Amino acid sequence: MFRKVTTSLAAFAISAAFLAGPVLGADPVVIKFAHVVAENTPKGQAANKFKDLVEERLNGKVVVEVFPNSQLFGDNKVLEAMLLGDVQLAAPSLSKFERYTEKLMIFDLPFLFKDMAAVEKFQKSDAGVKLLESLERRGLVGLGYLHNGMKQLSSSTALRVPEDAAGLKFRIMTSDVLAAQFQAVGAVPLKKPFSEVFTLLQTKAIDGQENTWSNIYSKKFFEIQPYITESNHGVLDYMVVTSKEFWMGLPDDLRIEIKKALDEAIVFGNMIAEKKSVEDRQKIVDSGRSEIIQLTDAERAQWVEAMKPVWKQFEEKIGEDLIDAAYNSNM
Ligand code: SIN
Repeated sequence: MFRKVTTSLAAFAISAAFLAGPVLGADPVVIKFAHVVAENTPKGQAANKFKDLVEERLNGKVVVEVFPNSQLFGDNKVLEAMLLGDVQLAAPSLSKFERYTEKLMIFDLPFLFKDMAAVEKFQKSDAGVKLLESLERRGLVGLGYLHNGMKQLSSSTALRVPEDAAGLKFRIMTSDVLAAQFQAVGAVPLKKPFSEVFTLLQTKAIDGQENTWSNIYSKKFFEIQPYITESNHGVLDYMVVTSKEFWMGLPDDLRIEIKKALDEAIVFGNMIAEKKSVEDRQKIVDSGRSEIIQLTDAERAQWVEAMKPVWKQFEEKIGEDLIDAAYNSNM
């Protein structure tokens, strides 16, 4: 008799739970945060900080799993995976959103921003904040910008003037603007995932690549590239994104707390970015593995002149007003 009652109680409990659907608070929300860089980079550190803050404050209600070094998805696949619900957070480089919006191409225009202060100023302006919404019609929500830094050119031969790059193969991110930038100096751009760059350089399948000091250092590109031209010709920054479905499906209180933690992690990551652009550059100098080429004003002017026509080429897609707004952030 007793056995019969407990069996029917158990059956009732199972069917009630089934009908009620997942009970909020019973299972933690799991946030998978996938990225492609090493942990000792601005993005790697920001992702880890976000995990610490969320888990400390949300007391078991939210679990964050961070996957660095393209362990879960490369940047070229991560947004598709996000829309399928296989990953909840990512921070791809702004150069990797081209298939989702043309507006973010602005960040790839060569020599548009003179430094990171100008990038920050533009991102905080009305025009910059509005760009965070440019992915919404594709089901993605931009939660904030995260810095890495200005890009340098690494190469197997010394690059001082644009003609030095003619005929050389450079790996680029998946961006038509970056392709046009290298074509403007007679070089051959190849769109390849970040995870393949070291091997492509090592096997000499490519001659060079563009990246920030922290990526060149953490991925050891400096060990196999004898020259780095300190060109500061463009910016490599990120947008932290999630899917609209996941974000709007969160209970309001959790969404607010998660966003707060993310904002703080971004501030932390930006501080690391600033430090690393100096420290990782110095570590490369100290290693003696790669010669750092500093351009004279006249040499730099030649790169600007060769690459600047790319702005006109993409003006219609990006919008003249947006280019002007970004340019004015240098003042
Ligand atoms: C990244 O910093 O996320 C990767 C940049 C690249 O693909 O070069």
